[in-house]
Amino acid sequence: MRHLLVTGGAGFIGSNFVRWMLTHYTDLRVVVYDKLTYAGRLENLQDVAQQFAGRYAFVRGDICDADAVAAALRDHAIDTIVNFAAETHVDRSIMDPDAFIRTDVYGTYVLLEAARQAGNLRYHQISTDEVYGHIEGDHRSKETDILAPRSPYAASKAGADHLVNAYHITYGLPTTISRGANNIGPYQYPEKVVPLFVTNALNDEPLPVYGDGQQRRDYEYVLDHCQAIDLILRKGVLGETYNVGSGTEITNLEMVEILLDELGKPRSLIRHVEDRLGHDRRYCLDVSKIMALGWEPDYNHEEAIRATVRWYVANRWWWEPIRSGEFKEYYARVYGNRKVLSQP
Ligand code: NAD
Ligand code: TYD
Repeated sequence: MRHLLVTGGAGFIGSNFVRWMLTHYTDLRVVVYDKLTYAGRLENLQDVAQQFAGRYAFVRGDICDADAVAAALRDHAIDTIVNFAAETHVDRSIMDPDAFIRTDVYGTYVLLEAARQAGNLRYHQISTDEVYGHIEGDHRSKETDILAPRSPYAASKAGADHLVNAYHITYGLPTTISRGANNIGPYQYPEKVVPLFVTNALNDEPLPVYGDGQQRRDYEYVLDHCQAIDLILRKGVLGETYNVGSGTEITNLEMVEILLDELGKPRSLIRHVEDRLGHDRRYCLDVSKIMALGWEPDYNHEEAIRATVRWYVANRWWWEPIRSGEFKEYYARVYGNRKVLSQP
């Protein structure tokens, strides 16, 4: 039996990954280690806790707490750590960078050090395409490109990537890193653009498109990402980094149009608003390295957006309570005083 520790497993991608792994491997035990911040929710795992009761456990803890991390590794005889735990939203990082530096940089260090002390456990770090910064022309970021992060979130994640590589080179820790594109799918907290816009539209509220809406992103279905992480754990070369995205890009406005069409809602819900500070115009990944390992996405961006919209339509039980809590204060802070642009 393999024993996997999934840090941040109560969040969006982590909970999808836990479900994916327990469904695909019967010889696997999964322990989720999560602080349960606003983004970490036990509802994301309630079906998992029931269906896989004998092979699943939950530990509430902070990845910055070295003693608690060491105890979880020891108590559950962990052999592999996959680290999803992070503060993840760019707009929050612009307002309050502090938690990002603590969790995303220092927390990663604590996990690496714990993995080393426990006897060089296998370690996989979940990173992001944002570490490359925004890219020009038709260039696609390769794993060997220089990191040029531009937001506090992206800079924290880049710092973590450097630490992971340093632990591999210095101590021989068996590490890998994956850099995902903009993931979408079930259980994504509605601060990120796609679930925010779907839930706003379902409530007939305006969709606040930053600036001209011509920023380009690769919207990737979360299960494609989970499949890639699984593959890297089995076949990835230690010390290496793998980009994971659909390899296609669309503008934010194109994304909004697909989303509204799937919902049957009017374009008049679109509001161009004052842009995000330091907004990255374009991300796009070269995914040839992960494809050479045997991975292929099942969803293109349009299918990913449509499937995501359908999940939010069918799962109001999940997002309606979220939108009535802490989220309201957050929304007022980010959008309350934001100028509406008459001409984007
Ligand atoms: P999320 O915000 O939905 O979940 C983050 C999880 O981490 C939550 O469960 C939260 O409670 C937990 N957490 C936060 N601080 C913690 C701490 N100090 N100790 C323990 N747990 C803590 O995030 P997500 O979108 O699922 O992202 C997961 C990972 O994937 C992150 O590392 C993120 O940088 C990366 N990533 C995300 C995307 C995306 O589009 N969402 C794309 C590429 C990479
Ligand atoms: P987001 O989901 O925050 O992901 P990231 O910034 O990590 O790519 O945003 C995706 C894109 O959508 C990004 O270009 C910013 C834009 N956006 C808006 O136009 N309006 C919004 O309210 C939000 C949250 C994002």
